[in-house]
Amino acid sequence: MSDKILMAPIQGITDYHFRNTFQKFFDGVDVLYSPFLRLDKDMQLKKSKVKDVLPENNANINLVPQILTNKPDEFIYLSKYLRDLGYNQVNWNLGCPFAMVVNRELGSGLLPNHNKIRKILDEVMPKISLSVSIKMRIGLENGDDIFKILPILDNYPISEIIIHPRTGKQMYKGEVSTHIFEKCLSLTKHKICYNGDINTLEDFQNLKNRFENVSSWMIGRSLVSNPFLAEQIKQKDKDSQENKMLRFKEFHDALAKEYIDRLEGSSHFLNKMRIFWEYFSVSFSNSHKVYKRIKKATSIEKYHIAVEQNCLERWTA
Ligand SMILES: Cc1cc2nc3c(=O)[nH]c(=O)nc-3n(C[C@H](O)[C@H](O)[C@H](O)COP(=O)(O)O)c2cc1C
Repeated sequence: MSDKILMAPIQGITDYHFRNTFQKFFDGVDVLYSPFLRLDKDMQLKKSKVKDVLPENNANINLVPQILTNKPDEFIYLSKYLRDLGYNQVNWNLGCPFAMVVNRELGSGLLPNHNKIRKILDEVMPKISLSVSIKMRIGLENGDDIFKILPILDNYPISEIIIHPRTGKQMYKGEVSTHIFEKCLSLTKHKICYNGDINTLEDFQNLKNRFENVSSWMIGRSLVSNPFLAEQIKQKDKDSQENKMLRFKEFHDALAKEYIDRLEGSSHFLNKMRIFWEYFSVSFSNSHKVYKRIKKATSIEKYHIAVEQNCLERWTA
């Protein structure tokens, strides 16, 4: 299959511990994106963010680091920093919908300001030596912004545009506007990747039938809920449901070990694992109960008992 599957960045989930463990246990993902890096006002990155993109922490991963900025000097600084680490692509986030970001005219907050996007790229593109891809929504308030932005992007050597066809206002809910995505395909010379609500093999097949020239597919939440999804899409999935549960359990235990070794105190560990189980539980029979067991666990010992009980359920994805 020539289609490529990209793992979407999810802040708080797809850090280097998750990416490495995922790659050890599951096949089918071609490229992984880091959650966004953002400089503070002293042009510094948080230590945890530095670690997340260090090459030694991503040794067997085809990683594209992502940045969030609306300032050319920051864009250039981060691109050089990443180039020096050995990366040859940087991904620019024009999609983040959170109010704290949008109100600062960052992420999807920048989408209505087409001229600012143009000015940033005018200044940045001649000064950086790694390729730039963009991950964007269709607009902030409505889906018109993208029709004005795509012709602007045609003026620059953008390596790929990943489109999540929702507005910033929609956050992560409501319908994805596949009709707007469809229109975008004829409005750009650039390579386009589809992202949004690919939850099952059937979702992928329906989208592929409709957009047969698209060969790049980014998946976020459902790759966490069902880490077998990329294998299913690539027809590499040969496990029975029972074997899937066994492999999931091995993956889970390795992931839990990553965090238990690094997070100080049981409450940090338990909080972290609860976030994962919000996603994992979706693929279990009795998913509501599965999640509840984890939420009720107040110690690491009780957590492990809850996991054992959960793994007696059926894997359904
Ligand atoms: C909690 C959360 C954090 C996210 N963090 C990022 C991020 O750092 N960068 C980014 O480009 N997208 C981020 N996303 C968006 C996802 O990458 C993806 O575009 C979105 O979830 C739609 O794809 P999906 O339906 O396959 O999950 C985040 C999404 C969620 C739910």
